[in-house]
Amino acid sequence: MKTIAIDGPAAAGKGTLSRRIAEDYGFHHLDTGLTYRATAKALIDRGLPLDDEAVAAGVARNLDLGGLDRTVLSAHDIGEAASKIAVMPSVRRALVEAQRGFAAREPGTVLDGRDIGTVVCPDAAVKLYVTASPEVRATRRLDEIVAGGGVADFETILDDIRRRDERDMGRADSPLRPADDAHLLDTSEMSIEAAFSAAKSIIDAALKH
Ligand code: C5P
Repeated sequence: MKTIAIDGPAAAGKGTLSRRIAEDYGFHHLDTGLTYRATAKALIDRGLPLDDEAVAAGVARNLDLGGLDRTVLSAHDIGEAASKIAVMPSVRRALVEAQRGFAAREPGTVLDGRDIGTVVCPDAAVKLYVTASPEVRATRRLDEIVAGGGVADFETILDDIRRRDERDMGRADSPLRPADDAHLLDTSEMSIEAAFSAAKSIIDAALKH
């Protein structure tokens, strides 16, 4: 069993990249952000508070990884709520356990998130840290929204991205940071195709060993 760990900040393009990589290698893929989002959504749907760690951890322990729906969970408010419960150690413990169970699947897995290389799968066969400047990430997010027929404002999106980075990098438990042995991939100046082929060369080289 081989695990490819892909970490990086919000809107860096790691979701698209991870799906393509999983498809290419015939591996199972888990977007671990969805586990935090689904936990947050379950709390909101049941009218439960987002600031009660014991309640949130109870919901996290009962999460079904098979029922994660990206379309439903991609809403902006759910992302904000997810990053609030993601600071809670007992929520993280419950979700990390489920993520490690997923990582053991054969023939291999791709997990993407914030702490895969550092905490969830420190022994991953290969680790990528995918990033891009906040401005580039905000532009990509804006283009996505506009392509979907929505309306948004660049400065508001940029503020959101900076706030989310601060929360994800500044938390005490499992902050977002590259693992010491991660390969850094800055996609600021790269198309998705270029990012994919750069990632593939790194992974091919690592999986040969
Ligand atoms: O990647 P995505 O935007 O879906 O993640 C939502 C939030 O979940 C992130 O802002 C982060 O706070 C949290 N998260 C995390 N650890 C992960 C994946 C996501 O803390 N492995």
